[in-house]
Amino acid sequence: MFEKINTNNFYKKTKGLSIFVLSKNINMNNPKRYTITAALPYANGPLHLGHLAGVYIPADIYARFMRLNNQDVAFVCGSDEHGAAITLRAKKENTTPQEIVDRYHELNKNVFSDLGISFDIFHRTSSDLHKETAANYFKELAEKGAFTKKTSEQYYDEEYKQFLADRYITGDCPKCNAEGAYGDQCEKCGSDLSPLELINPKSTLSGKTPILKETSHWYLPMGEHEEWLKSWVKDGVLDGKKVHNPKEWKNQVVGQCMSWIDGGLHERAMTRDLDWGVKVPLKDAEGKVLYVWFDAPLGYISATKQWAKDNDKDWEPYWKSEDTKLVHFLAKDNIVFHTIIFPILLKTFGDHILPNNVPANEFLNLEGKKLSTSRNWAVWGHEYLEDFEGKQDALRYALTSIMPESKDSDFTWEDFQARNNNELVAVFGNFVNRTLVLTQKYYDGIVPERGELTDFDKEVLEELKALPHKIKKSVEAYRFREAMGEAMNMARLGNKYLADTEPWRLIKTDEKRVKTIMNIATQITANLTIAFEAFLPFTTQKLREMIGMDKLDWSFIGNDNLIEVGHKIGKSELLFSKIDNAQIEAQVAKLANSQEIEIDFPKQKDTIDFEDFTKLDIRVGEIIEAEKVKKAKKLLKLTVDTGLDKRIVVSGIAEHYTAEEVIGQKVSILMNLAPRKIRGVESQGMILMAENEKGELAFVAPTKDIITGGNVS
Ligand code: 2FM
Ligand code: ZN
Repeated sequence: MFEKINTNNFYKKTKGLSIFVLSKNINMNNPKRYTITAALPYANGPLHLGHLAGVYIPADIYARFMRLNNQDVAFVCGSDEHGAAITLRAKKENTTPQEIVDRYHELNKNVFSDLGISFDIFHRTSSDLHKETAANYFKELAEKGAFTKKTSEQYYDEEYKQFLADRYITGDCPKCNAEGAYGDQCEKCGSDLSPLELINPKSTLSGKTPILKETSHWYLPMGEHEEWLKSWVKDGVLDGKKVHNPKEWKNQVVGQCMSWIDGGLHERAMTRDLDWGVKVPLKDAEGKVLYVWFDAPLGYISATKQWAKDNDKDWEPYWKSEDTKLVHFLAKDNIVFHTIIFPILLKTFGDHILPNNVPANEFLNLEGKKLSTSRNWAVWGHEYLEDFEGKQDALRYALTSIMPESKDSDFTWEDFQARNNNELVAVFGNFVNRTLVLTQKYYDGIVPERGELTDFDKEVLEELKALPHKIKKSVEAYRFREAMGEAMNMARLGNKYLADTEPWRLIKTDEKRVKTIMNIATQITANLTIAFEAFLPFTTQKLREMIGMDKLDWSFIGNDNLIEVGHKIGKSELLFSKIDNAQIEAQVAKLANSQEIEIDFPKQKDTIDFEDFTKLDIRVGEIIEAEKVKKAKKLLKLTVDTGLDKRIVVSGIAEHYTAEEVIGQKVSILMNLAPRKIRGVESQGMILMAENEKGELAFVAPTKDIITGGNVS
C-alpha cells in the first residue's frame, strides 16, 4: 500500500535564504524530492537500442514509478553538444558543429518523446543558460582555488594548427598495445590514457605525427580528493554523515570507482584549446573552452534551472537540499565521471548534494556482437519507430526484459518477437481480451457483482495483494527486469485464473459463479494499469481508456475493488498484436545489409627503393589457353601470350574462374619471378590479382586496350 511521504524535511526556505538544518545521518528512505538524471547523449548521431536499454528506459521507469507514488520528481536530460564527438563528426560530414547538433538534438528529442521517455525537460548544452551556468561554476571554482594552472608541452597538429587532446589523437595503447587507442581512453582495454602516453601518436585531423608545443591549462588535482571520495564511495559517509547506503550501489560501480581511487587519482585538465565549447571565463584564456566532461554534467543543473523557470519553481532544492535524492542513470563507460569527477566538483561548490546512487548499466550487444555506431551495427530508435508503428511498448518490454543490469546482454530480433508474441500477446493481451470480451458478451460490459469466494479466489486475491510490494522493492533497488517480471506475474495470475476457472464453460451451468470470476478478472485487469504504468505507459493508457477508468496512483494497487459493480466497460480492442516472421526476417536482412564489413588491412610493408621496384618486370599479357590442374581444385594452368613468348603460368584462381571464361582475358604478368614447380607443372611468372573483402579475386588488367606485351610500371 502507498506509504505516506515523510514531511520531516531538512530544507527550509526563509525569505529567499536557504537554511539547512543538518541531521547526523540523512534518511534517504523518505526523500522529499527526486532529481533523476539520464546521461546527456552526444548530439553526434542517432540513438540506438543500447542507449535506450542502458540508460533511458531504466531512468524513465524509475521516474515514472516515483511520480506514480506522488513523489516530487525532476527528471532531466538534454543533448551533450560539445567536445570532440561533435566536431569530429562535423569534419567527417564536411559541415559545421552547429548543423550537427541541431540535427541530432531534434532527432533524439523526438525519439525520446515518441518512446514515452518522460523527461521533464530535454535541454541542450549549447543553450545560453547552460553556457552561463557552466562558465559561472567554473569561475566560482577557480576563485575558490579548486584548480591549478599549469603550462606543459602537448601534442600539436601543425597542419591544422590545433592542440590534440582526447579523440583528436590516436595511437597504440601503452597498456594493451591495441592500435587505435585515443588520447583519453583505450576502448580495447578500457584504460584511462593521456595523449603523451600513446605510442606512435597520430593526429586524427591530418593523420600526421604531431609535434610538442607549450600550452597552459586549468587542472583539477583529483589526488587531493582521494580520502573523502574513498569514504563516500565505500562507506557512504561524507563529512562524518551517512549519506547513502553503499550496499545499495551496484558492485560494478563500487568496483570501478575503487579501482580508480586505489590506482591513485591524477590531475586532469578541465580546459581545452578548441573553438567549440563553453569559453573559459577567465583572463588569459583566449582560444580555450571548458573540457566537455566539466561542462556536460553541469548540463543536468542548467536543465533543472530551465525546467524550474518554465514551471515557476525553485531549482535549488533539487541540487542543494539534503532531503533530495539525486540519482544518475548512465552506462558503464560514464561511471568515473559521475562518481569521481562530478562529485569532486559538486563537493567543492560547497552547498550541493552528491548522488545518492549511480545505477550504471553494462552494455547491450546486438545479435551477439558489440553495438557500434561507426560500424553501423545498430538498430536505430527512429527506424524502429518507423518500422514498428504503434509498438513502442513492445520495444520497452523487450529491452527491459534483457536490460544489462549486472552484465552485458544481447538483443536479438528473434527474442524480441518471442517476447512480444509469447508474453505480451499470449499472456497479458490474452487475459485482458478474454476478460473484456466475456464481460461484454455476458453482461453487456457491466461489471457483475461477485458472490461467495472460493479458496482459490482468495488465494488469487492474496497473490494480487502481494505482488505490488515485490514490484516496488525491485524498482527501489534499481532491478527493473525483476520488477517488470513481477508485474508480468500479475498478468500471468489473471491468465491462469481464467484458464483454471473456465468461465466460458461454466456459463452454461453456473451463471452465479461466472459473475464472481468475471468480477475478479476485471479487478486484476484494473490493477494491471497501475502495475505496468512505469514500464508500458502506452499500454496502460489504452487499457484505462478501454475499461473507462481514471489514472490511479500506486496507493490503489493490490485493491480488489478498483472497479465498482455496475461500472460499464467501454469497447475492447486488442492490446497487443503479433509480430510475424516476415517482419523479423526483414529486420535481420536490414542489419546484414547495413553492416560495413570490418576489414583488417595488413600493415604497410617495409619501404623499398625505386631501384627495387624497377627490378620487377610486369607486362600486359593475354591468356590464350587454360585448363584445370589435375587433383588441385584451386589451380588453373594458363598459357599466356606475353608479347615476348607464350609461357605457362600456374594460378590459384580455379575457385573463382572457369578455364573457359579466362581465355581471352588481358592480365598483368610478373615476368621475371623465378620459375617454380607447382603440382608438377613449371610456372614461369605470376598473374597479378586483386582481392575484395569477401575474398573474391579479380584480374589486375588495363582499363584501355593496351597491346599484349605492354609495359606495366
Ligand atoms: O558518453 C556520452 O554519451 C556523454 N555524452 C555522456 C554525458 S553524461 C553527462 F555528464 F552529461
Ligand atoms: Zn588498451
